[in-house]
Amino acid sequence: MIKTGVTRFLTGITTTGTPHLGNYVGAIRPAVQASRRAGTENFYFLADYHALIKCDEPSRIQRSTMEIAACWIAAGLDPQQVFFYRQSDIPGVAELTWLLTCVTGKGVLNRAHAYKAAVDKNAAAGSDPDTGVSAGLFMYPVLMAADILMFKAHKIPVGHDQVQHIEMARDMAQSFNHLYGEHFVLPEAAVDESVAMLPGLDGRKMSKSYDNIIALFAPPEQIRKQIAGIVTDSRAPGEPKEVEGSALFQIYRAFASPEETAALRQAYADGIGWGDAKQLLFERIDREVAPMRARYRSLVDDPAELERILQAGAQKARARATPFLAQLRQAVGLRKLSDPGASPALAKALRTELPSFKQYRETDGKFYFKLVDARGKLMLQSAPFDSARAAGQTIAGLRQSSPPPGDFVAIGTLAPGVAAADVVTALQTLADAD
Ligand code: TRP
Repeated sequence: MIKTGVTRFLTGITTTGTPHLGNYVGAIRPAVQASRRAGTENFYFLADYHALIKCDEPSRIQRSTMEIAACWIAAGLDPQQVFFYRQSDIPGVAELTWLLTCVTGKGVLNRAHAYKAAVDKNAAAGSDPDTGVSAGLFMYPVLMAADILMFKAHKIPVGHDQVQHIEMARDMAQSFNHLYGEHFVLPEAAVDESVAMLPGLDGRKMSKSYDNIIALFAPPEQIRKQIAGIVTDSRAPGEPKEVEGSALFQIYRAFASPEETAALRQAYADGIGWGDAKQLLFERIDREVAPMRARYRSLVDDPAELERILQAGAQKARARATPFLAQLRQAVGLRKLSDPGASPALAKALRTELPSFKQYRETDGKFYFKLVDARGKLMLQSAPFDSARAAGQTIAGLRQSSPPPGDFVAIGTLAPGVAAADVVTALQTLADAD
């Protein structure tokens, strides 16, 4: 059952890279903390359908999925307490993407930042606007909306670059609700301004695309070497240093307590040498990462166990997704033909498309009925009855149990060209529609 009165948070992580310190500080650590709040339900998933948009290396997607899954668990996420699953284990997400595609204006997608940036780049290069742009990239916001709407998430913690996607998801939910009834929760972006943006080795934002990352679970010696490569100015030991604009200081602050940060600030003023400052940074990071590293290693070394954890998570997520998708299919009209439909108007429309019984009284004073097919063509003409009640009871009997073909002879006559088996089929159709 979906609990009421809880706030649901949902986060997707695209499985194309190796988790780095920037991911840890900006997304993983705050999310793990947030997952423990009372009154919330938290959904974290490995967005591997999204990965296909950017990456055509199957082994990289698989490796990244494993690294990210292991990383989040090592960082303290409790899969029992949250919904932790792989997107492609919920194939209903792909189906929901289609339902949403059909309520989304193409023009809306034309305005998505990522798609527009690709088109603008092509235009600037004098190429055809859609060179190298897959329909997957174009559809990215719809897939993302399906992730969110499938689980009725209220809040989506994201960076500024993703806010537009959440707004689009909200619009899609609104259009769908308007057309088909109130099925979706309208999601909202939750941008946390207090979360640190971590600079990378070169001082720009730490990002795989700038090739300036420090992998969270790289061997300590590699982390030490990378830290040695962080850009600094050329001030010598003994010269006072600026914390303003110092990538090293900013990274330190993201891991340190306020007291530790104040101490480093003082050390800068006192002229700490860059080598010593880098040693402090290495030690501070290692203090936080070392305890997680063991858990990470044990998970990565046992992919079967990690897979088991993901499967358990997928099962939990599908228990929400599957019945909801069934409801949505019903709402849009992807229905069993025998289903009378949710709305009374539709039910009436459908009823006229079913075989039906007509009761009437003839001038001879007797009571009759006939069975007509969906188009109103006569199938079975009853013998006369002395009362309307007797005719009605015979109809009820026919509707309840399709009698063997021979019995129709006792009840009436088949219309020319109609076989007893046709009547049995018609009665079956009526029974299924009840
Ligand atoms: N687009 C997100 C990113 O690049 C990843 C993502 C996929 C996501 N589906 C989502 C984030 C749903 C939040 C909600 O970071």
